[in-house]
Amino acid sequence: MKSKNIIVGNWKMNPLSLKEAEKLFADVVKSISDIKKTEIVICAPFVYLEKLKKISKKISLGAQDVFWGEVGAFTGEISAEMLYDIGARYVIVGHSERRAMGENNNDVNKKIKSALSAGLRPILCVGEGMRDENHEYLNFVKIQIEECLNGVSKDSISKIVIAYEPVWAIGKEAPHPATPEEFREMNIFIKKILSDKFGVKEISKVRIIYGGSVDDKNAEGFIKDGKANGFLPGRASLSPEKFSKIVKICEALSK
Ligand code: PGA
Repeated sequence: MKSKNIIVGNWKMNPLSLKEAEKLFADVVKSISDIKKTEIVICAPFVYLEKLKKISKKISLGAQDVFWGEVGAFTGEISAEMLYDIGARYVIVGHSERRAMGENNNDVNKKIKSALSAGLRPILCVGEGMRDENHEYLNFVKIQIEECLNGVSKDSISKIVIAYEPVWAIGKEAPHPATPEEFREMNIFIKKILSDKFGVKEISKVRIIYGGSVDDKNAEGFIKDGKANGFLPGRASLSPEKFSKIVKICEALSK
């Protein structure tokens, strides 16, 4: 059976209080009550996860980062097992905003392995900083995927979601999102890299989603023409209205 499409809201470092986080989450839950064919995940700041878990089971919870060490002297870090224990089931790894703070493919690789062994599903973010006429960006994304997934077993690959998020399309300063055609090209390219590495059958359940200025206006094209298996919205996930519209578009196009 094919995996459901998946929408992952990345709240980033928002909102500023637990009270606001609970309200936002409850409003999102209310707005998606009819959804059956689409999986919904909210990646909230660490400190809110445990409380949000008590509000609803309809939405899975995820973290926005994880540390690769298992336990011990790692001041300030949070392990995959800790996240699983408080109810998180997904974790974003390798987001460009973390890579900009110094995280590299090797760090992301260790985080993926640690997440998988604790039972968390990693959402691996990849994407080039800019596009070039010689198509070097394709090679950049290929290296990201190969290095980040180095040593991941064939049995585990179906648990990983790949989010293609071109850095030039993320955030409110971004001039424009990618086009569905640009995503489609990358979608095919990523599938080829994965099938060469893990096998066609093994990757049939891997979801490849789009992130980077997704909203209720452009979501449909990415699914219809780009063949996206879902989205990773940032800003739009902070508005229950916009977020639920994206979810409903995805649901309506789900088979
Ligand atoms: P954006 O962020 O939707 O606000 O562009 C996407 C992301 O960084 O995950």
